[in-house]
Amino acid sequence: MQSITVTAPGRINLIGEHTDYNNGFVLPAAIQMAATATITKRADDEIHLTANDLNDSLIIDSIANLRINEKQWANYIIGVIVQFVKKRKFPTGFDIRISSNVPIGAGLSSSAAIECAIAFGLNELFEFGIDKMELALIAQKAEHDFAGVQCGIMDQFASMFGRKNKVMLLDCQNREYRYFPFERGDYQIVLLDTGIKHSLAISEYNVRKAACEKGIELIQEKYPAIESLRNVTIAILNECVDDHLEEYNKCKYVIEEIERTQAATADLESNNLIAFGQKMFATHAGLSKLYEVSCPELDFLVSAVEGNENVIGARMMGGGFGGCTINLVKSDAVNEFIEQLTVHYHTHTGKQLTPYIVSIEEGAHIL
Ligand code: GLA
Repeated sequence: MQSITVTAPGRINLIGEHTDYNNGFVLPAAIQMAATATITKRADDEIHLTANDLNDSLIIDSIANLRINEKQWANYIIGVIVQFVKKRKFPTGFDIRISSNVPIGAGLSSSAAIECAIAFGLNELFEFGIDKMELALIAQKAEHDFAGVQCGIMDQFASMFGRKNKVMLLDCQNREYRYFPFERGDYQIVLLDTGIKHSLAISEYNVRKAACEKGIELIQEKYPAIESLRNVTIAILNECVDDHLEEYNKCKYVIEEIERTQAATADLESNNLIAFGQKMFATHAGLSKLYEVSCPELDFLVSAVEGNENVIGARMMGGGFGGCTINLVKSDAVNEFIEQLTVHYHTHTGKQLTPYIVSIEEGAHIL
């Protein structure tokens, strides 16, 4: 094979936010918006990258010469190639042409979509035989080392493993996962993009992660065997972290969210979407008040739909500080919902709202 075209999607997350790097549970799904890459072998050792959407390109003169570049879009790709080089030997150089319709900064994992498309595509084209979980981990490491976000595994997992009309419950402690049909019945998943792309997203993400780790350190003074918030109860938290309000609040949110995600999964299994939706509102309250990763625009959109009989669940989604809310909206009320919220949002913030109606699609695959 000389050339391959692959695609890898962005993701939504129904519930289980900021739990992945705490060994908790997440419930994501892959969506219709995706990155597409064509990778072609070269006769020489060079790597040529082209971003179709940006009309930009980059030539790397040798596989031996991979480092962080000033073009940010290229770093997601270079970061993945670097991980491959650590594991396998490329017999030749290659050209990559990439494009994506995952909105950037909307909390839909546009970067994971690119990383996963590259990881999946290189593995297929060069027949490296690396399994999908390992590919997701390669993509995650690219994000750590080349984008500076100490992210968990959720986004890359969802982009690799997504399945049409299924949500995935991933246990981030042992990486076991189960697929569930998402029986949305009369409801649609509607995302409302605030248009806010907060510059704090990377630094504050890492600060939240550090607060959870500090909480664990405090707990380990009494319970040395505990390694993550997955195994911490509120009683243990009260006992060990009571004097550190900042860490206490962050850990409390995570402990509650891990429990809530399990309970929400049970709601899905018993087809109780109403109970599921109520937990989404509870997650939002925790993310906003305790974990402090929301922003006024996200809070506005969630409070604006609370009490609306056509909306059974809503919350901010993803890392936070901007991006989208995810809403479960009665199908026949979706148009009206979008119209009302768009006007309301503009009146309140002066900003333009962008809605997306989501369909749940396959993860990374060859086109
Ligand atoms: C970002 C990260 C994920 C996850 C979410 C929050 O999307 O990349 O690993 O931590 O934030 O749930």
